Amino acid sequence: MALFTFPKDFLWGASTAAYQIEGAIHEDGRGPCVWDTFTDAGRIQDGSSAAVACDHYHRWPDDIALLKDAGFNAYRFSIAWPRILPSGTGEVNAAGLDFYDRLVDGLLAAGIRPMACLYHWDLPQPLEDRGGWQGREVVGPFADYARIVSARLADRVKDWMMLNEPNVVATHGYGTGEHAPGHKLGETGILRALHHQNLAQGAALRAIAAERPGLTLGTVINLQPCRAESDRPEDVAAAARWDAVWNRVALDGVMRGKIPDLMAERMKDFVLPGDEEAIRYPIDLLGINYYSRMTMKHETGHPFDVWWGDAHCDRWTAMAWPVQPDGLYDLLMEFKRDYGNPAVFVAENGAAYDDVVGPDGQVHDAERVAFLRDHVASVGRALADGCNVKGYLCWSLLDNFEWAFGLSKRFGIVRVDYDTLVRTPKDSYRFLSEVAKSGRLEA
Ligand code: FCB
Repeated sequence: MALFTFPKDFLWGASTAAYQIEGAIHEDGRGPCVWDTFTDAGRIQDGSSAAVACDHYHRWPDDIALLKDAGFNAYRFSIAWPRILPSGTGEVNAAGLDFYDRLVDGLLAAGIRPMACLYHWDLPQPLEDRGGWQGREVVGPFADYARIVSARLADRVKDWMMLNEPNVVATHGYGTGEHAPGHKLGETGILRALHHQNLAQGAALRAIAAERPGLTLGTVINLQPCRAESDRPEDVAAAARWDAVWNRVALDGVMRGKIPDLMAERMKDFVLPGDEEAIRYPIDLLGINYYSRMTMKHETGHPFDVWWGDAHCDRWTAMAWPVQPDGLYDLLMEFKRDYGNPAVFVAENGAAYDDVVGPDGQVHDAERVAFLRDHVASVGRALADGCNVKGYLCWSLLDNFEWAFGLSKRFGIVRVDYDTLVRTPKDSYRFLSEVAKSGRLEA
């Protein structure tokens, strides 16, 4: 047993994403996004949709109350681009801005720091129709959107995250087609999507900084330490290639303005002179999403000739993701060592399990409690070892629409009954609340 103590100003809270919780996809002038199209094409595994999801668009005061009662002092939410600019460009939808205005005021009234993320995957469909992240045409519209939203909210929202997990958008959305917009464009499609998100991010960061000085600007990247399944040279090389694609194109893009050497040749046709300066930006805060390590091996027939190896793990979540809390400690310490210890926060960490509602009507999610305890302990350990980590936000406040898995995977610390939309805090909610309120963890 060890005792971890956290500073008074440590950020405790939860993250959500607009598309996964809001519902109301046809309300108040919202335009279509790529996930609506993907859903309409029958691509969601359980046949569900996000048309209602958690109905957060109407029930947000209840959700703020949940955050407040937990004793959380921070909340990362995303703003739906298609609510603000229904066509992706051009006319601004006042009702969309009004919604986030009310949400922000509600959070502040509850003493919760609003951390806004501009892009959690809901690309307006008209922009996808013009090439989406495969081309540069999205860069200007994204910067405009950033300027419009920050002009309205940055008097109250101090923390701005540009993107969420550009690597997942690129690999799943444009590489393998598992996510919207569902393209199977392989290696080049993946790298193009990454590069254009990097460019859009650089432009948006500059747009917001010009709009209002003194904000905390950052982005959110899903970092997963990549290990080779064996020490066979081809596995080691495959893991290094995957590390470059999955972690480094995004991370080194913003932090160093550098295309990783391993990817430079593959990216030379669409990285133009000046791009490396344009993607670099001295961010104030990096959000790190952590779920697990990646154990990779060489295997042909996949992008970059890399595939999943045996993780040699005996704990798994309902997503079939290995539970590897040490990976979070290692990641934070490697980041500290390699990037000069800039400020970071855990922007997502959590687990899906097949929750059961007990005879008492409660969800006693012991596995999720253990997951959270072990990962918060890793954060506590990294903090004690000098890592400049500012907070821990779990994924997620509510069970929600888990992308291509639909409503079938539950990540919430609060259960959502999708028939009644009633919210029931789980044991994991009480656990994290206790840690947040006391600033202490025994693990
Ligand atoms: C992350 C996403 C988030 C959620 C979790 C489980 O990759 O950012 O929206 O789906 O995984």
